[in-house]
Amino acid sequence: MDINELIQQSVKAKESSYSPYSKFRVGAALLSTDGEITLGANVENISYGLSMCAERTAIFRAHLEGKRNFTAIAVNSDSNEIISPCGACRQVIIEMCGNIDVIMTSKSGDSKVMKIADLLPLAFDDKQFRNL
Ligand code: THU
Repeated sequence: MDINELIQQSVKAKESSYSPYSKFRVGAALLSTDGEITLGANVENISYGLSMCAERTAIFRAHLEGKRNFTAIAVNSDSNEIISPCGACRQVIIEMCGNIDVIMTSKSGDSKVMKIADLLPLAFDDKQFRNL
């Protein structure tokens, strides 16, 4: 899979964004090991705190579709700055996807790739949970 194709899919995913409050569209494209791509976009609510990020909509959707093994997620917005996943999404990415590549992009075509474990050092995981 060409990284640029995955980025293009995240740009396409952005079209499904429901973001009337922030007016900040975000798209995500999650790549499975078998080459399948799952798209996600941010979905907001008038009760702002209920809003959901693009990365998590893609991951939850993929999970419900039975997908379990992933290699990368690309994220795009309309910002000219590269955007990176929020803290909540980082925690969800590392648990549901493992140590995948996070491809962070800008509208103008810049990109930066980092492993999720480098974006979220010392993530809370099952080694700590209930290890009383
Ligand atoms: N947002 C995402 O969907 N992903 C990110 O990586 C950053 C932020 C969304 C949440 C909210 O709908 C809007 O962008 C503004 O914060």
